[in-house]
Amino acid sequence: MNARNAIFLIIILIITGLQCCSPTKRHLLLSTFLDGVPPLDTSSRLVSQNVFNAAMDTSANTTGSANEVVGMNVHPPFRDRQCRKCHQEFSNNLVKPLPSLCFQCHEPFWNTYEKLHGPVISGHCIKCHNPHWTDKKKLLLRAGQDICFECHKQDAILANSKHETIGNRNCTDCHSPHGGKNNFMLKDGSCYNCHDLHMDEPDRFKHGPVLSFNCYECHGTHSTKTEHKLLRSGQDICLKCHQSKDILANKAHETIGETICTECHNPHQSDQKYMLIINKVDEDK
Ligand code: HEC
Ligand code: HEC
Ligand code: HEC
Ligand code: HEC
Ligand code: HEC
Ligand code: HEC
Ligand code: HEC
Ligand code: HEC
Ligand code: HEC
Repeated sequence: MNARNAIFLIIILIITGLQCCSPTKRHLLLSTFLDGVPPLDTSSRLVSQNVFNAAMDTSANTTGSANEVVGMNVHPPFRDRQCRKCHQEFSNNLVKPLPSLCFQCHEPFWNTYEKLHGPVISGHCIKCHNPHWTDKKKLLLRAGQDICFECHKQDAILANSKHETIGNRNCTDCHSPHGGKNNFMLKDGSCYNCHDLHMDEPDRFKHGPVLSFNCYECHGTHSTKTEHKLLRSGQDICLKCHQSKDILANKAHETIGETICTECHNPHQSDQKYMLIINKVDEDK
């Protein structure tokens, strides 16, 4: 096959690859090209009888207290020899594909989270967890940042401007490993690890969308090029949620014209009612 045909074939493969599979797979396929997350392998689900029996013996040694094997965390269904909850009799195939296998007993993450992590949707639970036992907490296969560097390239993550200062901090200080309501599965409050908006001070008047941690209603991601990474300019940043007619109905606003709202209001919080920047308002008097 000549070079032109080869390229043609590759393009066809990519296109059919993108059309044939589920949105999840498609997303995974795309993200492989986009941020260098390597493709996940699909290892065989078949377990030979000998190996299975040997594992039964291991399980027998861990019966009783989960901590009988010192320093080991044992998954309760493995400890209790409920092998058949997960492995079929005779064939030892899994009784259900992952992740449904796990959701027989655990609440499915899609009931809890709006946004899900790639490997969670695609059922790669055992890329991070051992289904039987480990010496790490939460049945994790690796500790600290290594749990994430299994798939995400360390260099790329640490070179990223917002990650420059994280040092050895666990990725899960800021990101949930499974999913969440925020972009990038960021935990509520994670921004305050780097930006102090005084939100922990009790006697402050705090803005609804900041309290509910909807930063991305007003700000783009860190790669956004606008000033303060704002998604809109002028009064529009505020009029996305506040109605112009309601604002103008207030005497305090009669003469504001095009003045930006943040001339008088702090967008996040302040020690004054209505999050006013009191000095500014006094100056205008
Ligand atoms: C919570 C579900 C679950 C339970 C309970 C469970 N297993 Fe597994 N087991 C798995 C999964 C998932 C794999 C990984 C299969 C794969 O790699 O594709 C696995 C793999 C194995 C393997 C392959 C070798 C290895 O360790 O990875 C053996 C052997 C095995 N299980 C035996 C057992 C025995 C014996 C029990 C009961 C004492 C048991 N399992 C209980 C889910 C479970
Ligand atoms: C037969 C029921 C059952 C199945 C199937 C099952 N689990 Fe569990 N799992 C439990 C129970 C019971 C606990 C202990 C109570 C709890 O934390 O919910 C537990 C706890 C855990 C924990 C927390 C361990 C800790 O140290 O706090 C993890 C992680 C976990 N399971 C992962 C998985 C994964 C991954 C799968 C699928 C491969 C799976 N489970 C399938 C019953 C099950
Ligand atoms: C990217 C790695 C990763 C993947 C993939 C993953 N988990 Fe987890 N999981 C974690 C980490 C890390 C924790 C510990 C969270 C903590 O300590 O705050 C955890 C904790 C858990 C727990 C304990 C309860 C909790 O939320 O703390 C359960 C149960 C669990 N995972 C099940 C699953 C199941 C089921 C899947 C597949 C659908 C899965 N996990 C996929 C990393 C992962
Ligand atoms: C088994 C492979 C795997 C592991 C391990 C893994 N990831 Fe991911 N991660 C992916 C894939 C694949 C994507 C891209 C799919 C997507 O955008 O949802 C992704 C995407 C992400 C994203 C971007 C989500 C978005 O909305 O753009 C974040 C943030 C992330 N991972 C954080 C983590 C953290 C933190 C850990 C460790 C707890 C981790 N990942 C471990 C495979 C993995
Ligand atoms: C209602 C819209 C809105 C929301 C929601 C919002 N911001 Fe802002 N933010 C702004 C505006 C407007 C500015 C520019 C302020 C100025 O011009 O003085 C700003 C500025 C900033 C700045 C730079 C200046 C400073 O005060 O340090 C940071 C950092 C920041 N925001 C972080 C956050 C975080 C973190 C959240 C979520 C917890 C958040 N913002 C939620 C509107 C918002
Ligand atoms: C101190 C908090 C914090 C820690 C710790 C942290 N992150 Fe992030 N991460 C963020 C924030 C904030 C963003 C998104 C910011 C934005 O662009 O708006 C992000 C974005 C990401 C993304 C999205 C793609 C990208 O690079 O822009 C990935 C993937 C990611 N983090 C993985 C990781 C991994 C892996 C670790 C651990 C090595 C980690 N993060 C540790 C705060 C953190
Ligand atoms: C790991 C530290 C870290 C975390 C966590 C973090 N940021 Fe930042 N942020 C930075 C750095 C460093 C800068 C300045 C460099 C840049 O512009 O990317 C910055 C800049 C900003 C700015 C522009 C400030 C200005 O004065 O123009 C805004 C807005 C902002 N971040 C919002 C957020 C929001 C919203 C979150 C949470 C979703 C967040 N940041 C989480 C490190 C972080
Ligand atoms: C994402 C939607 C959203 C955006 C954008 C937004 N706000 Fe708000 N704002 C709210 C919510 C929700 C409340 C709380 C309403 C309540 O408690 O009655 C609120 C309340 C306020 C209050 C206090 C009202 C009171 O009665 O205490 C002021 C002042 C205010 N916003 C100003 C602003 C300014 C200035 C901006 C632009 C920087 C802005 N808002 C942008 C949603 C938003
Ligand atoms: C010149 C200063 C100034 C500017 C500019 C300004 N405000 Fe105000 N705003 C005030 C003052 C003063 C109050 C308190 C009024 C009171 O006590 O009733 C107030 C009150 C509010 C309130 C709470 C009371 C109400 O009417 O619901 C909201 C919401 C509000 N402003 C939103 C905005 C928005 C949105 C903008 C931009 C379109 C804006 N403000 C621009 C000074 C200003």
